[in-house]
Amino acid sequence: MTPLFSKLLELSNSNHAPFYAPGHKRGQGIFHDLTEAWGSAIFRADLPELPDLDNLFAPEGVILKAQNLAAKTFSADQTWFLVNGSTCGIIAAILATVGNGDKILLPRNVHQSAISGLIHAGAMPVFVKPPYDPQWDLSYGLTPESVEAAFQIHPDIKAVFVLSPTYQGVCPDLGAIAKITHTKNVPLIVDEAHGSHFKFHPDLPPTALELGADLVIQSTHKTLGAMTQASMLHLQGSRIDPQKISRALQLVESTSPSYLLLASLDAAREQMATMGEKLWSETLTLAKQARQALAEIQGIKVFDPRPQKGIQYFDQTRLTIDVTGLGFTGYEADEIFAEKLGVIAELPLRRSLTFILTFGNTEKDIEQLIKAFKELGSYQPQQPFSQQQNLDQSTFQQLYDLPPLSPRQAYFSTSKTVSIKASINQICAELICPYPPGIPVIMPGEKITHGKIYSLKQVLKLGGVITGAHDPELNTIQVIDLE
Ligand SMILES: Cc1ncc(COP(=O)(O)O)c(C=O)c1O
Repeated sequence: MTPLFSKLLELSNSNHAPFYAPGHKRGQGIFHDLTEAWGSAIFRADLPELPDLDNLFAPEGVILKAQNLAAKTFSADQTWFLVNGSTCGIIAAILATVGNGDKILLPRNVHQSAISGLIHAGAMPVFVKPPYDPQWDLSYGLTPESVEAAFQIHPDIKAVFVLSPTYQGVCPDLGAIAKITHTKNVPLIVDEAHGSHFKFHPDLPPTALELGADLVIQSTHKTLGAMTQASMLHLQGSRIDPQKISRALQLVESTSPSYLLLASLDAAREQMATMGEKLWSETLTLAKQARQALAEIQGIKVFDPRPQKGIQYFDQTRLTIDVTGLGFTGYEADEIFAEKLGVIAELPLRRSLTFILTFGNTEKDIEQLIKAFKELGSYQPQQPFSQQQNLDQSTFQQLYDLPPLSPRQAYFSTSKTVSIKASINQICAELICPYPPGIPVIMPGEKITHGKIYSLKQVLKLGGVITGAHDPELNTIQVIDLE
């Protein structure tokens, strides 16, 4: 049953004269190159909020029905469809739980959308550093002990925000974190952007909702069959007022939401409800085959962590491969893969490449991936990897310290441009992050350190991309003008 998709299909085939937006009028006026490339059905279905199509911000018809079905499928009490990615869901979750000056606990490796949420809400971050593995140059999940310790130092924390899974598929002990958080009578928000699929197979990690989260944001477009930007926000229990979530979402989403995206959420949910376990069973089999074959290739290492601090569960469908044994950085290997070997990864980092595997991948894709890794060794590294390129540990040492200014205070302060040398120990006015993964190395309100600058320069030097810097070469940077 797909109430929203079916109604959209019905209306896209109905006969009427369209005197409403969008201006292409069901494709009648679309530039012919687009119809030639994409066909006409997509434009006939690109409809606005016609009476039969309900309203995303006051749903009582087909959108409400589709969201209720999603709540049932994902075992939530209430679900909202999102048309601006998990980004808008994360901002809304923060706006619904903390206000100006309130403290919120977050891991330091949060996605930049959480920092946007802090800027919108005016909340003060209590950053906690998750365990860092120098062998893999990866940060894991928050530990329950560090959450408990943060509450000892800051008993007035109003909400806890946790990332699970990480980009590499690592999930922290969310059950224990939920217990601590709820003992303090505080809501737990989980960024499950990379874990929409967990619900659909017993060999995948348990979902954040199963482990006790109050609010969960999922990028349905990342690992399920929804279109890019289509995401979901799920609510469980009574700690958070659903009205507050609806109000916050109205602040951060378009008043003209795309029905193509909304209908794709309805269809992706139906696909999982009717054949999710079968599809993920096949994906897990492919992942296992890939892991076994890759483990036999000389010079590379496959990330396959056992439970330890910061890792309670691991998603086997995420493949992270260390390429430094062949002398490559992840960035250079990524370039060779894309330009010469016909394989495109999700995320290159200093040491590794991460690949997302879903039921959309075929056996042929896996064969190509394995072949590419076998051939990588025949290329010559241009910028050989050296151990010094690991992330400087001092970068994220500030455990539980509040930043000098909240991200919002910094965002609205007067700033000035200074040389990188002069910026050390000053308060940053910019949000700068390597992209992907979109985890800020420096954010507004934080002190600039040698370690952070070094880390960003390394990303640039090794061919990575950084976003948010007004000077893309990082010779200068904007700091808060305290005079
Ligand atoms: C951990 C994490 N959270 C949130 C987001 C934002 O999700 P979206 O792209 O759906 O807006 C991303 C995107 O890459 C992410 O990696």
